Amino acid sequence: MQVVRFVGAVALSVAVLPGAGAQGLVNPATEKKIDALLAQMTIEEKVGQLNQYSSAFDVTGPPPSAGYQKAMYDQIRQGLVGSVLNVTGAEATRKMQQLAVENSRLKIPMIFGLDVIHGYRTQFPVPLGEAASWDPAAIEGSARIAATEAAAAGVHWTFAPMVDIARDARWGRIMEGAGEDVYLGSLVAAARVRGFQGTDLSALDTIAACAKHYAAYGFAEAGRDYNTVDISEHTLRNVVLPPFKAAAEAGVATFMNSFNEIGGIPSTGSAHLQRDILKGEWGFPGFVVSDWASIGEMIPHGFAENLEAAAQKAIVAGSDMDMEARAYVAHLAGLVKAGKVDVKIVDDAVRRVLRVKFALGLFDDPYRYSDAAREKQVLADPGHAAASRDVARKSIVLLKNEGGLLPLEKGVKTIAVIGPLAADKDTPLGNWRAQAVAGSAVSLLEGIQAAVPASTRVVHAEGVKLVTGQRNFMARSVFNTTDRSGIPAAVEAARTADAVVLAVGEDAFQTGEGRSQVDIGFKGLQEELIRAVLEANKRTIVVLMTGRPLTLGWTADNAPAILEAWHGGSQAGHAIADVLFGDYNPSGKLPAAFPRHVGQLPMTYAHKNTGRPGPEPGVTWSSYNDMPNDPLYPFGFGLSYTTFAYSEPKVSAPEIGRDGSLRVSATIANSGKRAGTEVVQLYVRDLVGSVTRPVKELKGFQKVTLAPGESREVTFTLTAKDLAFYTAAGKWEAEPGAFKVFVGGNSRDVKEAGFSLK
Ligand code: NOJ
Repeated sequence: MQVVRFVGAVALSVAVLPGAGAQGLVNPATEKKIDALLAQMTIEEKVGQLNQYSSAFDVTGPPPSAGYQKAMYDQIRQGLVGSVLNVTGAEATRKMQQLAVENSRLKIPMIFGLDVIHGYRTQFPVPLGEAASWDPAAIEGSARIAATEAAAAGVHWTFAPMVDIARDARWGRIMEGAGEDVYLGSLVAAARVRGFQGTDLSALDTIAACAKHYAAYGFAEAGRDYNTVDISEHTLRNVVLPPFKAAAEAGVATFMNSFNEIGGIPSTGSAHLQRDILKGEWGFPGFVVSDWASIGEMIPHGFAENLEAAAQKAIVAGSDMDMEARAYVAHLAGLVKAGKVDVKIVDDAVRRVLRVKFALGLFDDPYRYSDAAREKQVLADPGHAAASRDVARKSIVLLKNEGGLLPLEKGVKTIAVIGPLAADKDTPLGNWRAQAVAGSAVSLLEGIQAAVPASTRVVHAEGVKLVTGQRNFMARSVFNTTDRSGIPAAVEAARTADAVVLAVGEDAFQTGEGRSQVDIGFKGLQEELIRAVLEANKRTIVVLMTGRPLTLGWTADNAPAILEAWHGGSQAGHAIADVLFGDYNPSGKLPAAFPRHVGQLPMTYAHKNTGRPGPEPGVTWSSYNDMPNDPLYPFGFGLSYTTFAYSEPKVSAPEIGRDGSLRVSATIANSGKRAGTEVVQLYVRDLVGSVTRPVKELKGFQKVTLAPGESREVTFTLTAKDLAFYTAAGKWEAEPGAFKVFVGGNSRDVKEAGFSLK
């Protein structure tokens, strides 16, 4: 049965995928070369192509044992390793590649992978922050630079983009994706793939991308990393899969499966996900890499009794490459010889891996990405810093600005820059920072100092520390500081200043893998500091540096101005200063809601209506006793230094046919005193369906820049394709009936019109 399914998938894979041709993954000449190679390979050599080890550089799993590197090198020489992750740098990659190419029988080059998530050396804002730019071109540009730097350092392949929809900010990995929304998430997924891969994988400034984590990793119960996922096919198809499909359609070369189970089946062992949907329905021609040791983790999941059984289940289900479980190298050849795994399944997996290696040009020259001179030159390119600053400014979201406190006058006499993150040159780099130099970011203090004239006095006070103890990828951050000794100096600095900029939020290593939290408020003594500083000086701007939405509590009610700057990358300090002093008018919009309380999570604006949406007098309805249902700041929210007025939206027709299209227009006016950019958002509601539909779904957005007093009509076009979803009949299609359309500057404050689909 599995073999039949698998043959179907192979036949489809060559014909269907539109992106495949563009990326050069599948073409008759390459397939012939692969046939010739496969004909020469022993079963052990085939399995070798599916075996991936980590070099000791950066380990996200159990640390390598003493003999680990030596054993790995021996296997590389024997042609038993197809890929290494975490080897980086022109010299190191060249040496590693030499081991394979100069020693192994068939001289097949290895592919080197690395987590290049939001930059290689130059860091851009963490992905959640970048998504707040609502600017796919800027996001594509950032991935392009990351790829350029990584490729120059011998890296062939990034484990990005992470396209997991995340609606629970307790989950630490929310920082790695584009947030809560399917439409925005799909656009960002495709943009990142285009950025990393360009139009030609063999070019010296492109790398293969990897859509991860397939699938539903962001739906871990209670936001706890690696936890169980139990979602319906309905949610899988309508919410989880669309960004993956968008990545596939953009030609992504690889997928990574996920640690979680869904409905009792670990993704790594899911033929439904990997064979039926990805390689079958979507005709994906690239390969699937397991997540770190996820094949072996099917044993504790209770899905395989031992590593051999895990290897069998994983390969049959469509996991092509084994990252660090060492299950395939230990057992797969034996399983084939024993007739327990059809060799055709192995051949297909190897073919997929080889396609990517051919597309990267590694068979023409296995060392083409390992050029020390190019590495030096590319990593020193000053244009990369400028680009990072630009994306960081675009990502900043103005959450509150009472009384127009912002922007600040540059001529202000004394500015106090306070807080545990004010002078921090490391936290802006965020987690998953590849080869960033520790402490190399422009701090907020430095950014402000560089922006103001010599006549302005800039005073700095840390106030409290956020983290005590070790901070790195593996160490858990500690927030147990009890040291209040810095607070009086901070209060004094605030009291005597004309304006205060207070930098608080999260440490760089507070979000990311294994960084879930039950409490997403301010850690440590930060709120105590915020209260003390605000009491001393009401002209205080709170600058948040975070990798997730926080619950702001007292601060949201009492601080006059709040700016979400995320972990903004290498140039964060300059970018924030650009916004603080009005050199850049903020236009970022939240890609994930800021809840009022952690107890509201998971949450999304695109929720269902329920049978008791309320409020209705005399009836209990779906609500909390002690807090409203809605978030503090909803998806799509973000202010500007100017204001925008929206007209009522108009539809071009009351009714459209299945092949027709509808124009939705609204006039947006800049009703304030400064030029500004607004992200005009279009939402749709399908009122009745064969399955229930969300109360709102983003279906389009446009950025408009308007001078004071200027107005512009913005028009969106909707077709039946935009209204399609996974129906009760298991089809992706639009259903006839009544729809509402909404236009506004965020998902809550909208104006509506309606139409129907025949
Ligand atoms: C585990 C993570 O889940 C994945 O995202 C990452 O790419 C691998 N480790 C490799 O570092």
